[in-house]
Amino acid sequence: MIKISPSILQADFTNLKEVIEKLESAGSDFIHLDVMDGNFVDTITFGPKMVADIRKITRLPLDVHLMILNPERHIKAFADAGADIITVHQEAANDLIKCLESIKEMGIKCSVSIKPSTSIDTLKNVLSIVDMILIMTVEPGKGGQSLIKEALEKIRDLKQIKEENGYSYDLQVDGGIKAHNKNLVVSAGANIIVAGSAITGSDDYKKAIAGLKGE
Ligand code: DX5
Ligand code: ZN
Repeated sequence: MIKISPSILQADFTNLKEVIEKLESAGSDFIHLDVMDGNFVDTITFGPKMVADIRKITRLPLDVHLMILNPERHIKAFADAGADIITVHQEAANDLIKCLESIKEMGIKCSVSIKPSTSIDTLKNVLSIVDMILIMTVEPGKGGQSLIKEALEKIRDLKQIKEENGYSYDLQVDGGIKAHNKNLVVSAGANIIVAGSAITGSDDYKKAIAGLKGE
């Protein structure tokens, strides 16, 4: 079964309570929170205070995608803020294994992401540790871009490696996913879809989420 993690990146932040309530009643499985530091990516979004405030207004699991350098410095703050899943970028962590283990020690699901140009070979030492792998299907940094189809091969390969080795990670995809192309990511093996503009850019969240789930 496909799960949907709507990104609030492009929502009006002055109206987040209403947006999140609408997402919840529209059938979202998570809320995806894109944290950007202006260094790992050019954009700056928000930090742990925002995550803590959102924690107060929803019971949905908070899926926190850290697009920040040296994520290890900030894991505790996001854990304390109420994150349920923390994703760090392979390209941004100094000691990836240590970083993922520190997330796990806090009782939170740990996840690793790679950009479209990064090979899955860079993940070989963490495949048995992670609860989730986030394959970026756009360059991280902004919403509303087009899906890079070449990244789908990585999902196929990671699905096969998972089955051959009995690993348990979820396969999440993020970037440019809409109802019309979601079959591409699903048939490649993804089981959690992140979508920003396809949902918050729509005037019917329920229909948008159902369309992504294939209902
Ligand atoms: C991009 C973010 C995404 C973004 C997706 O760096 O990680 O989560 O919000 O937005 P769409 O679905 O519009 O590509
Ligand atoms: Zn994201």
